[in-house]
Amino acid sequence: MSNIRTNYEKWYECEGYYWGTEPAGFCDELIALCPPSKDKKVLDIGCGEGKDAVYMASKGYSVTAFDVTENGIKKTIRMAKENNVEINAYVDDINTFETNEKFDIVYSTGTIQYLFDENKKPFFDKIEHITKKNGFVFFNVFVDKPFLELPPDWDIEEKMWKSGELFSFFPNWKFHKIDETIFEDNSNGIPHFHCMDTIICEKVI
Ligand SMILES: C[S@@+](CC[C@H](N)C(=O)[O-])C[C@H]1O[C@@H](n2cnc3c(N)ncnc32)[C@H](O)[C@@H]1O
Repeated sequence: MSNIRTNYEKWYECEGYYWGTEPAGFCDELIALCPPSKDKKVLDIGCGEGKDAVYMASKGYSVTAFDVTENGIKKTIRMAKENNVEINAYVDDINTFETNEKFDIVYSTGTIQYLFDENKKPFFDKIEHITKKNGFVFFNVFVDKPFLELPPDWDIEEKMWKSGELFSFFPNWKFHKIDETIFEDNSNGIPHFHCMDTIICEKVI
């Protein structure tokens, strides 16, 4: 029986970068709100092939990044070398990861829907614990809309979240942005729509 957890393990085998090398616009929102410095520590959860982690490292943050795919982490290390930056990148699972470090910024894009239901509450408790006081979280997640079809490249362990559910895990944080957007995507070469919830919030207490 295959122990492959995600189709991305295969998709990241390609010689080039499956996601390209352009960072997400979300990174620029992060930079605007939390200007870079070497003493600011960022954790990128589900970093893929590293385009956002490498960009943040190139801007001067101290970046740690993990993904469940070995091929994604190999690519992240390769992209970091190509850009002459250092990243602490390793294979880990959003469902079970542990760390003794504290971070100024915890960032995750396109990955939170891989959390199993029973791990949601422990995950967000962990996020609260590992985020420094006055630190920030930048998260997004795909959400279900009854009028949208499941994307054609929907993955083995992905599960759509309920609209608004992500926001409910941060009742004690200061919200800088909550947003829900429907957008067209062409990943895997087939045009389709996603609905995504996004939160930017600050741990003020
Ligand atoms: C849509 S991609 C986003 C990748 C990256 N954040 C980016 O924007 O380029 C989702 C990522 O989640 C990763 N992933 C899937 N299951 C995971 C898990 N259990 N723990 C950590 N990462 C996981 C996949 O390998 C993939 O890289």
